[in-house]
Amino acid sequence: MKPVKIGILGLGTVGGGTVNVLSRNAGEITRRAGRGIEIAMAATRDTGKSRICDTSGFRLTTDPHEIVSAPDIDVVVELIGGDTLARELVLAAIANGKHVVTANKALIAVHGNEIFAAAQKHGVMVAFEAAVAGGIPIIKAIREGLAGNRIEWLAGIINGTGNYILTGMRDQGRDFADMLADAQAQGYAEADPTFDVEGIDAAHKLTILAAIAFGIPLQFAKTYTEGIARISHDDVVYAEELGYRIKHLGIAKRVAQGIELRVHPTLIPERRLLANVDGVMNAVLVKGDAVGPTLYYGAGAGADATASAVVADLVDVVRALTTDPENRVPHLAFQADALSDLPVLPMDEVETAYYLRIEAVDQPGVLAEVTHILAESTISIEAIIQKEPREGENRVPVIILTHTVREQNMNEAIARIEQLATITAPIMRIRLEYLNRE
Ligand code: NDP
Ligand code: HSE
Repeated sequence: MKPVKIGILGLGTVGGGTVNVLSRNAGEITRRAGRGIEIAMAATRDTGKSRICDTSGFRLTTDPHEIVSAPDIDVVVELIGGDTLARELVLAAIANGKHVVTANKALIAVHGNEIFAAAQKHGVMVAFEAAVAGGIPIIKAIREGLAGNRIEWLAGIINGTGNYILTGMRDQGRDFADMLADAQAQGYAEADPTFDVEGIDAAHKLTILAAIAFGIPLQFAKTYTEGIARISHDDVVYAEELGYRIKHLGIAKRVAQGIELRVHPTLIPERRLLANVDGVMNAVLVKGDAVGPTLYYGAGAGADATASAVVADLVDVVRALTTDPENRVPHLAFQADALSDLPVLPMDEVETAYYLRIEAVDQPGVLAEVTHILAESTISIEAIIQKEPREGENRVPVIILTHTVREQNMNEAIARIEQLATITAPIMRIRLEYLNRE
């Protein structure tokens, strides 16, 4: 049978990796797909730039529109990034009857509802395994492997750059900026690295995971997002002394009133497998009612690891080329007309435990004032430690772990404590999750 012709938009980290994997494993890929996969054309901004892949086997263009409208191209692989030009190109490819494979989480999280509706109308596939957790086949696992389950919650380390930075700060005492520069040099970071550091990239991915786990539309704007930039080395050390690690987690949870969707730094018990996922590695813990907790682990970013997911999608698309569109796996796991309108909860209504670091004047009565306010907000304390005064200063860090409390109560208590004359700095608050079997 004739090979399937693909056009690749972008030959950077992921595009270059995809060319390399397609070439290196061509024989195995053809045996799996049933047909060869041939790169017909690729688009870049600069055709003279040196690349991580060999570009001699196909034509290069600086006009990506040429690829999405080329009559002989069956599948467009979008690896440019961003959600403006990429949206335009993907919608044009779909309108021209081409199947699409993309690694672009921003595109899917923000414009996915529109893109999938267009794909359904034109009877084409849009595959996006590489958009979440790099090389880990997490989309396939939830969408297909766990299809018999009612998913209760999932929690994951879903940004490789952020985890790489936090690991380097903890294990090597390296500073934030130094670790970020290193992640950029390795090709892990987004074009705008604030997406990694501020949790936006993780929020894009969590939006996608929640949609396929719960059968809800993509709702990026409702995902609560907090980054890692405020975490200090002191917090990392105090958390460890209490038996916890700080990880940047994306959490999606089904509760009685709706769905929690949140990305934030989180203390987790150090004995949990997730607490020991380091460097650029990602892991996603998914709790299904039938199977119980399941864990998926692997490289969350990087050329070959991400190409692994892009090429797996290509194989899936090639295998399904002759199937009736109605009989394909739905884009968001549930049939498009069977999505649920479960509400995403505002953060004030979320319940979790907390780690608080309170910088207080070292004098009698301060702790009593703080605990009195917490008690008035019905916040009960799990552990409390007063550290040594900082050198040359008359103030002490006080670390408090609380039991589970509603976020609104915690916000009110923090606002009142910060008004005390004896509190010398804004309180550092990090949410804490036990991630046990329930
Ligand atoms: P890069 O910045 O490394 O590559 C982007 C590529 O797109 C470059 O080859 C660039 O060309 C090309 N490009 C950009 N604009 C245009 C344009 N107007 N016309 C033609 N070509 C253009 O990005 P990545 O490979 O890192 O990321 C690509 C996508 O994959 C993003 O959506 C990202 O979020 C996602 N992703 C990235 C991962 C990673 O580990 N890096 C992991 C998982 C997903 P040129 O080289 O000439 O500048
Ligand atoms: N910048 C992303 C990360 C790439 O570091 O996780 C993978 O999606």
